[in-house]
Amino acid sequence: MLQLQFEFQIRFSITIPTLTMFLLKTWRQSAFGVYGYLNFTKPAFLEHSKNFKPEEMETQIPGKNCLVTGANSGIGYATAEGLAQRGATVYLVCRNKERGEAALSQIQTKTGNQNVHLEICDLSSVTDIRSLASRFSKKNVPLHVLVNNAGVLEQNRVTTSEGFELSFAINVLGTYTMTELMVPLLEKASPDARIITVSSGGMYSTPLTKDLQYSESNFNGTEQYARNKRVQVALTENWAETYKNRGIGFYSMHPGWADTPGVAKSLPSFSKSLAGKLRTSEEGADTVIWLALQPKEKLVSGGFYFDRAEAPKHLSFNATNGSHAAINSVIDSLRSLASLS
Ligand SMILES: NC(=O)c1ccc[n+]([C@@H]2O[C@H](COP(=O)([O-])OP(=O)(O)OC[C@H]3O[C@@H](n4cnc5c(N)ncnc54)[C@H](OP(=O)(O)O)[C@@H]3O)[C@@H](O)[C@H]2O)c1
Repeated sequence: MLQLQFEFQIRFSITIPTLTMFLLKTWRQSAFGVYGYLNFTKPAFLEHSKNFKPEEMETQIPGKNCLVTGANSGIGYATAEGLAQRGATVYLVCRNKERGEAALSQIQTKTGNQNVHLEICDLSSVTDIRSLASRFSKKNVPLHVLVNNAGVLEQNRVTTSEGFELSFAINVLGTYTMTELMVPLLEKASPDARIITVSSGGMYSTPLTKDLQYSESNFNGTEQYARNKRVQVALTENWAETYKNRGIGFYSMHPGWADTPGVAKSLPSFSKSLAGKLRTSEEGADTVIWLALQPKEKLVSGGFYFDRAEAPKHLSFNATNGSHAAINSVIDSLRSLASLS
């Protein structure tokens, strides 16, 4: 056996652990691809929607304050519009003033709800998030719903002005910092407060890793995105436990594969090959809005949701199950990077 391993290494100049890892990654990605094709497309949404109960989306929520990040485009825009349609006061968090103002005016016109406001914040910056949280605290209003939606899949390694890998900065550190700083405002809306984090089924393809900023030299943006989305699911599980007595529900979710500006830009081949089979942004936002409207007793805090139902956090045979044990170490790193006490 050792002889065989030695000959294999000489011939192909790769080690058995490297080969095993390569095969495992390939298996996980293939399993995710097949599972996704069967479940995440538009035809799957139409099939799943046969079990939806229309009355669950009829609740009106005037007087509830909802903050949606990345609200000028795609799923975030559709979420903000859906919440405004149901009478909520909605705060759009956008990084770009013009795009934010365009979304604000479109939502006000379409819904007739004037209680829609714009907050400018670059969620890749801890400093900017701190400033938003401090501005928002001064309003002294309870926050009923925080939707952590803003996200990117960046194919190249880009470093932010604060020195972080960009997708990690937005998807993970931004989500973590925003959530931790907003918890006191959500407590004011207790017991009906909730935080919904828009993760992705892409996380099925990877375990939780402590390598948060992709230290390997060959940067793989799609893999880094999947890793980020896995962290969001594990963080949500941990927040549910940490804050279980604070009257806040924590949910992560997958919107399915939706045809959004983000997908068209980051995954052009995927977008073209599934043309006509992708969900609309509204279909992607459906479960986010559903999670915002349901009585909390119906929901499982810490759970991962898809198409209005709790979904597994791991695919069978993908060997990712035990990985969430690393979450405390991940949180220690995040707390330190965000300089939170
Ligand atoms: N579409 C899908 O199939 C799919 C599948 C699984 C998960 N998701 C998740 O769904 C969420 C929304 O994605 P989407 O598909 O709707 O993409 P999108 O159309 O690109 O929307 C992303 C939003 O996030 C904002 N954003 C990005 N970086 C930001 C930053 N640094 N600060 C503030 N805002 C920032 C964008 O603003 P700009 O317009 O200024 O860039 C935009 O409003 C993401 O978390 C994504 O991972 C999407």
